[in-house]
Amino acid sequence: MPKSMDVGISHHTPIKHAIMCEFVGKEVRAANRLGWFERLVWIDLTAGNAIAANPDAWSESCSPGILASLAAFSDKPVVIDLYEKNPDTYAALLDNLAANLPALGYERFEEHKWRIGATEVRAWNGDGREAGVDHIRRSDAVLVLNDPNGITEWAMHRRFTAVLDSKAKGIRTLSCVGFNVAGIKRAPFQRDQHAPRTDSVSARSEWYELIGSVTDYLPERLDLMLAGFTRDSSQWAYLFSSPKVWRDKGEEEEVIGKAFTATGEVHDYEFAWFKRDREKFNRLVDRRILTKAELAELENPVLPFEGSGEEDAA
Ligand SMILES: C[S@@+](CC[C@H](N)C(=O)[O-])C[C@H]1O[C@@H](n2cnc3c(N)ncnc32)[C@H](O)[C@@H]1O
Repeated sequence: MPKSMDVGISHHTPIKHAIMCEFVGKEVRAANRLGWFERLVWIDLTAGNAIAANPDAWSESCSPGILASLAAFSDKPVVIDLYEKNPDTYAALLDNLAANLPALGYERFEEHKWRIGATEVRAWNGDGREAGVDHIRRSDAVLVLNDPNGITEWAMHRRFTAVLDSKAKGIRTLSCVGFNVAGIKRAPFQRDQHAPRTDSVSARSEWYELIGSVTDYLPERLDLMLAGFTRDSSQWAYLFSSPKVWRDKGEEEEVIGKAFTATGEVHDYEFAWFKRDREKFNRLVDRRILTKAELAELENPVLPFEGSGEEDAA
């Protein structure tokens, strides 16, 4: 498996940020209308360095900037937790927050914390898989961003959506996943050792479990969209949960359509909803996890007696 996963900024980045902006912006607009959410809790498990992909638009082109700027439009308090595990990247994150948050009206009150009114941004040098949930209350609407450099760095603990679902009133997640970044699909399908297996993503069969950790705890009122590039060697795809009422109005399809043309270039993409189009959803997942040979075998399985010369035996 390749050692380096430093993928930096690519043509996927503006598409990802366009999807993030809509994902978070719609949450704010909905929560402003809905009385039963008292507070918004946003957890960015993979904050990065907060350097804008587009230097002229910090608020739209890095996840900390998107979260901090859209929180300013919320009528309700927002708590934003930014996790970054790499110490050097975390140091850059603090510097870039310090450079950009004051322009949005935030003031620093601790080394790693800023606030504007009742809204707080908090940065943590830690692993997103260990993100704290003690502060979450029953009247909170929780949003989670999981944007690792590739699926092998998936930063959301497998029980995370289950725990959040049991604690909060609402929970939506957005995972940005490259299934073949730096050739990671060369990993074997099954692992050869049996233990320890907790949180392992070393075999591709375990990638199905990561997606299952989101689909298994999808609240009744939500569905999950997978939208991904059709022809893309890194096989980037975006998995996000949305209310079925938005799905049924076609709103999320519009969001995806705009995002994949955000740069003015046309990128071919495909999408499916987990609950509405289960078979298509599973096919899109298979295409991202299985090799061409495995896919061909899935579509045309070799029968157990095929080729044995005994096909006609009584
Ligand atoms: C693709 S970058 C994030 C970009 C950022 N979300 C944005 O849109 O501006 C991925 C970052 O996540 C960090 N990371 C990966 N796994 C992590 C984990 N388990 N916990 C915290 N940070 C993680 C990496 O160090 C890297 O800085």
